[in-house]
Amino acid sequence: MKVIGIVGSPRKNGNTNAVVQEVLKGAAEAGAETQTFLLNEMNYRGCQACDYCKTHEKCKLEDDLAELFEEMKKADGIVFGAPIYFAQFSGQMRLFLDRCYSMVNPDHTSRLPAGKKAVIVGAQGMPDPAAYTAVYDEFGGEISRFMGMDIRDTLVAAGYHAPGEVKDNAQLMEKAKNTGLKLFK
Ligand SMILES: Cc1cc2nc3c(=O)[nH]c(=O)nc-3n(C[C@H](O)[C@H](O)[C@H](O)COP(=O)(O)O)c2cc1C
Repeated sequence: MKVIGIVGSPRKNGNTNAVVQEVLKGAAEAGAETQTFLLNEMNYRGCQACDYCKTHEKCKLEDDLAELFEEMKKADGIVFGAPIYFAQFSGQMRLFLDRCYSMVNPDHTSRLPAGKKAVIVGAQGMPDPAAYTAVYDEFGGEISRFMGMDIRDTLVAAGYHAPGEVKDNAQLMEKAKNTGLKLFK
């Protein structure tokens, strides 16, 4: 089993990555191989709408996302994590998600093998975990509709600003670890 984390926060030591790493730690304890992709450290552009991917099986842009797309095809589980910026997921995550269009067939079916497990992780300054439910639900909808994934959990680090302060939330960290442990159960 392989589980990858895709992190859309520019802060490697931030709240998003803290929760993503806890899910991966649980998955690793359950025997999975894990790998993290920090989108902010990767070189990629937004979708150019050239539609090359609708007549070919892949994206025309040969940047750092090419390797990530290959890993996504092979992975059994994917943890998508991003902070909320201006009431949306961060630009790093949105730009990446647009490029995932290259993994969608012209009839809107997914090119990814079915049955992958997905976890969504968000971090936000707003203390109310329900403040951006629409964002998490819509993101989850896109992941399950266009990528055919089974969303196992949505974990929200709500009310945190300083990098990594969510680690003090023992309950959320334990939930994140358990999500990883039980990903394939
Ligand atoms: C540019 C920017 C915009 C933000 N917009 C929001 C927002 O609309 N709502 C919110 O609750 N928090 C907002 N925040 C706060 C972050 O979501 C919060 O600090 C989060 O914990 C950052 O995650 P990270 O530690 O993984 O980087 C914003 C932060 C930045 C830098």
